[in-house]
Amino acid sequence: MAMMGSTAAVLLALVVVASPLLLAASQPVGAPPAAPATNNSRLEKAYVALQALKKAITDDPKNLTKNWCGPDVCSYYGVYCATAPDDPCARTVASVDLNHGDLAGTLPEELGLLSDLAVFHLNSNRFCGALPDALRSLHLLHEIDVSNNQLTGNFPSQFLCLPNVQYVDIRFNNFCGEVPAAIFEKKIDALFINNNNFEFTLPANFSSSTASVIVLANLPRVGGCLPSSIGDMAGTLNELILLNSGISSCIPPEIGKLDKLTVLDLSSNGIVGKLPDTIGNMHALEQLNVANNMLAGEIPESICALPNLKNFTYSHNFFCGEPHRCLEVPHIDDRQNCIAGRPDQRPGEQCIEFLHRPPAQCAAHGQSSPPPMY
Ligand SMILES: *[C@@H]1O[C@H](CO)[C@@H](O)[C@H](O)[C@H]1NC(C)=O
Ligand SMILES: *[C@@H]1O[C@H](CO)[C@@H](O)[C@H](O)[C@H]1NC(C)=O
Ligand SMILES: *[C@@H]1O[C@H](CO)[C@@H](O)[C@H](O)[C@H]1NC(C)=O
Ligand SMILES: *[C@@H]1O[C@H](CO)[C@@H](O)[C@H](O)[C@H]1NC(C)=O
Repeated sequence: MAMMGSTAAVLLALVVVASPLLLAASQPVGAPPAAPATNNSRLEKAYVALQALKKAITDDPKNLTKNWCGPDVCSYYGVYCATAPDDPCARTVASVDLNHGDLAGTLPEELGLLSDLAVFHLNSNRFCGALPDALRSLHLLHEIDVSNNQLTGNFPSQFLCLPNVQYVDIRFNNFCGEVPAAIFEKKIDALFINNNNFEFTLPANFSSSTASVIVLANLPRVGGCLPSSIGDMAGTLNELILLNSGISSCIPPEIGKLDKLTVLDLSSNGIVGKLPDTIGNMHALEQLNVANNMLAGEIPESICALPNLKNFTYSHNFFCGEPHRCLEVPHIDDRQNCIAGRPDQRPGEQCIEFLHRPPAQCAAHGQSSPPPMY
């Protein structure tokens, strides 16, 4: 839900950004096709790039690239031209949008010839192979969305070289290896890397991120701790989704500084310790999900008193008490804990066994002691 909300917001922003491009690209109905764009080296290079892409597409069941013929690239389906930012007399390809195309194929190096490209949307296709290295030369690229394809290879570190990139969406692919810490130091607005095969430890630099949305979900081979510096993202962070990402620390109390955060999802990790009552300072919080962890103790009343909290999910932990106030939150899920008097709790023996484990040691830096042995 959270992800969809933010995506919708970003898409809305895109429509606003892209509409002048769309207008620029449209032609009067019934008019003859625009004269071939001769003597414009940008469009000539774009022609080479787009023909290379067409050639690398092995299946186009919707015939999207059927009209990709001839030099007038601005009339190609999904290709939008605009005035070049550095030359008011030259038209250039500003955006390529082939979302939901069901296209199969690979992405050729010639795409680097689209040197003025600002928006590149290829989500929900069947592209495989790596992202071309030449993407690093797209110095105007603002948004790249290649989500929901079959792309492989390491994290596309080309993005680290792009001075203007703001929106990076590579979720639902087969990228593997480490995610470089430098991506969190880059000034980008939204980072979606969930549902890939990455294997890395969440770096402390994570807190350097100035993104408003960070989604690192369903990366079971990721691990690490929530750094106590997490509060450093207070100025910008709006949504933080770290579900099923191998996090095995306590929740540092500094998280309470994130007073612009509306969505926090830390579910399905190995998080231990108590819920810090500083979460009660996160006044913007609407959705809080800490389900499927090893959290214990009482739910702090300050959390259930948050003015905007609509949905608080803390099922499948070992909480032993919740203030009555929590039952007034519009939607809560407290199932499968150890809360006396509440329905659908864990069997008593599980709760007793948990109580006999050594308590989690939450160090100042947010790290926990090694998980207790059974
Ligand atoms: C084509 O471009 C060249 C160099 O960019 C320029 O010298 C020439 O005048 C242009 N020709 C036309 C017909 O615009
Ligand atoms: C695509 O083009 C082929 C050949 O022209 C045609 O048989 C097919 O029905 C077209 N598919 C769609 C979805 O328009
Ligand atoms: C990340 O943090 C480490 C240690 O704090 C620092 O040495 C490094 O320069 C930071 N940046 C990157 C991109 O790793
Ligand atoms: C509350 O959040 C949980 C976990 O994110 C979600 O599964 C559920 O659908 C949400 N319920 C409502 C009513 O928003």
